[in-house]
Amino acid sequence: MSAGAGNGAVNRRFVLAHRPVGLPQVDDFRLEVTPRPEPGPGQLLVRSRFISVDPGTRGRLGDRETYAQPLALGEVIQAATVGTVEVSNHPRFAVGDWVAAAFGWQDWGLSDGRGVRVIPDNGLPPSTAIGVLGIPGLTAYFGMLEVGAVKAGDQVLVTSAAGAVGSAAGQMAMIEGARVVGVAGGPTKCGWLTRELGFADAIDHRQATDMTAAVAAACPNGVDVLFDNVGNAMIDSVLPLMNRGGRIVVCGQMADYNQPQPEAVGLKNTRAFIGQRLTMRGLVAFDYYREYPQAWARMTDWIRAGRLRYREEVIDGFAALPEAFIGLFTGENLGRRVIRPD
Ligand SMILES: NC(=O)c1ccc[n+]([C@@H]2O[C@H](COP(=O)([O-])OP(=O)(O)OC[C@H]3O[C@@H](n4cnc5c(N)ncnc54)[C@H](OP(=O)(O)O)[C@@H]3O)[C@@H](O)[C@H]2O)c1
Repeated sequence: MSAGAGNGAVNRRFVLAHRPVGLPQVDDFRLEVTPRPEPGPGQLLVRSRFISVDPGTRGRLGDRETYAQPLALGEVIQAATVGTVEVSNHPRFAVGDWVAAAFGWQDWGLSDGRGVRVIPDNGLPPSTAIGVLGIPGLTAYFGMLEVGAVKAGDQVLVTSAAGAVGSAAGQMAMIEGARVVGVAGGPTKCGWLTRELGFADAIDHRQATDMTAAVAAACPNGVDVLFDNVGNAMIDSVLPLMNRGGRIVVCGQMADYNQPQPEAVGLKNTRAFIGQRLTMRGLVAFDYYREYPQAWARMTDWIRAGRLRYREEVIDGFAALPEAFIGLFTGENLGRRVIRPD
């Protein structure tokens, strides 16, 4: 069935058709067309204007529980959304409000108001509510500032540094006074990091044959904070270069998400944990929800001051969702990728 152009009269949605093996395929997702939902008393109906594609969704497509339940077969694919309120029977929401929610890969969202937030009029495009001011930006904020405890003078290495999370994390470390090096795929991404965002250096992991040597050259004073979005092989190659008291922030595992568990890469260079008194800690951004307002206020100030820059890649057309998601695993995106349903 073709996704066609949405006329608002029906609800197009992508559901999980098969659990992917390895890299997800387009036919792991099934397009369905259902009637547009009708809001009841106390409910609101939201039309999605921007829908996210997130690498972390991969974890919910399998049958193992991570920090979130796996999706059931036939369930709508989970994703963050920005939309406009079209009908409201709820006192907190007015028709025309721009709201952020998590209605997933579908045209319409029906809610009793829980999990729906009116986007403040901060002068920024509404899509930023699921980008630099959404979970990617918040993950960078709490990962770098709280888990990584970055401070002035630190030597910082960020992997998948040209992605939504990595680019924000690196800039926040710079704001704190750290020297920041990024790892990214290809000259365009590396050039963006050094020329536009002010990274001290960028390593092209598609060219580097020996990642430890490449990091040693780019970080001659070692690494105090490794903010990792890539996975175990990357962490293992940086462990010998960590400075005493270094912190490893385990944020994401792009290279490992599509690996079956028995084939996952392990860490070998763990002796560095003792000698260098290292800590390695993961985070889930949702754990910090009570502190989101403070983070939003600071990040908005940084954006306005030009200290926190972001890139959004808007892809038009609802039908593009599965391929846009799969493309995250082949490095297609630069910055935050969102879909604008037609
Ligand atoms: N812990 C949390 O609460 C939390 C919340 C949100 C996101 N995350 C995680 O944070 C990470 C970044 O998220 P994001 O949304 O900003 O996505 P992202 O970094 O834009 O992710 C896509 C990028 O990952 C890189 N990549 C893909 N496969 C790779 C591989 N095999 N080896 C190395 N790099 C690879 C590619 O960039 P290159 O071209 O540079 O290789 C690709 O463009 C993800 O792992 C995500 O799951 C964690």
